[in-house]
Amino acid sequence: MKRLDSNDLSRRSLLRWGGAGFSALALGGFARVMAADKVDVHIRLFASPATVQILGSGNPTDVYQFTARLIKGPKGTIQQIPGSHIGPTLHLRTGQRVRIEFVNNLAEVTVVHFHGLHVPMAADGHPINSVDPGGVYNHEFTVLNQAGTYWYHAHTDMRTGFQVYRGLYGMIVVHDSVDDSLGLPRGLCDVPVVIQDVRFNGFNWLVHSTGSQTGHLGDKILINGKYATTFSAATRCYRFRLLNGSNSRIYKLAWDNGMPMTVIGTDGGLLPHPIEKPYLMLSPGERRDVYVDFSDMPKGTVVKLLSLAYEHGGPGSGFPIQGSPMELWRISIDRLEDGYANLPSTLRPMPQWDKASAVNNGNSRVFALEYMGGWSINGRMFELTGYEEDEIVVLNQLELWEIRNDLATGTVQPHPIHFHGPQFQIASRITEVDDPWYDTIRDGYVDEGWHDTILAFPGERIEFLTKWTHFTGLFLYHCHNLEHEDMGMMRNLFVRP
Ligand code: C2O
Ligand code: CU
Ligand code: CU
Repeated sequence: MKRLDSNDLSRRSLLRWGGAGFSALALGGFARVMAADKVDVHIRLFASPATVQILGSGNPTDVYQFTARLIKGPKGTIQQIPGSHIGPTLHLRTGQRVRIEFVNNLAEVTVVHFHGLHVPMAADGHPINSVDPGGVYNHEFTVLNQAGTYWYHAHTDMRTGFQVYRGLYGMIVVHDSVDDSLGLPRGLCDVPVVIQDVRFNGFNWLVHSTGSQTGHLGDKILINGKYATTFSAATRCYRFRLLNGSNSRIYKLAWDNGMPMTVIGTDGGLLPHPIEKPYLMLSPGERRDVYVDFSDMPKGTVVKLLSLAYEHGGPGSGFPIQGSPMELWRISIDRLEDGYANLPSTLRPMPQWDKASAVNNGNSRVFALEYMGGWSINGRMFELTGYEEDEIVVLNQLELWEIRNDLATGTVQPHPIHFHGPQFQIASRITEVDDPWYDTIRDGYVDEGWHDTILAFPGERIEFLTKWTHFTGLFLYHCHNLEHEDMGMMRNLFVRP
């Protein structure tokens, strides 16, 4: 087993790792930061405890909350979601140099990660950069990603599930000139839709139950942190940025009126062309941008976003069980407005990588998912700075990787596997399942486009192509079922030149 060389770790991380209590400020936490005139956007981001009224009646609920203050940058960079406790939507642009000055006002250690953004290790929110209560940490990066829907959330070792569940998450929308030029719905018609399932007890406290199999499942759906609200829409076209911010629940998203789901973007931005699906499987961490045209619906129409029933291929626990039908969101078309936005048939071209050009074609790097008294990847569980020979990645080469969720391993569950770092392309998906249950999910995958998270149902093997660029150091990969992650279904990759 290898460990990241201590020279590669900042003094701060070492101290944190060694468990010595300290204040980041006292250590000169600002020493390494870019000069103020070198950043385009400077956001001060706070994680704090708060009490909010989530349910319509009864007690308010204790939550954790990201709040943000714009120190420097374009107006509109921080967009608060009215009436919500979740983090504000952060609007960034490709090429911007960003400083997120993170302040931990919680009574426990935490760290913030920018999911889907390709940033240096020191900015990525690895748990070695966790911030003590009262501490500050500067995340600095240039936005390399293209326009798309990304997000930020707590990433604390063994506490990610708890902290995200309590509210430490928000959306990041990256803009660029290509996306701007397509005439897609914008402004109030470009809507973040973050889905989270929660459970309350009789005092309206959030109940977090972690099962070793399925993880945490809630019985109430929050959309953008709010319960049972109706979205008021006009007779126009919309872009909904769907993000599954749930701990463990996988949704099978569909419109109740039988309209297809028209997908225009995945985790890493716009697709080359829109794709129509009868429904979409959306696992924790994944994003899908969908386009909807309400322009010829009569005023007064209500459209519901549902999660349809499906079989999940493994033992279940929690209630409603994984795969239960649920109503997620109501959209009420209550205003006549002229706002047709044409959907272009070509969105954003992308290079099509192919297996034949991978340095290891025919010999993919395998990530096998199994239960061994705890969830593991290649038989291993998380070690803070540890990695093995087969977890070393060389910069700038195209590699073929493969996730295997084989039935032969005994205990099986669906796992959404996420890699920090660059976005990748899915090359193939096969299943050893020859059973009608698979038909309840198979049409919901969007394997086209760019991805940072892959849902692997029991029996599936998924090959994907990845090319690491720009940054060396430790980057996490893990199951985005946050309960599996906290149990240790997470590892480091060590990226080297
Ligand atoms: Cu969204 Cu490592 O996480
Ligand atoms: Cu991530
Ligand atoms: Cu998992």
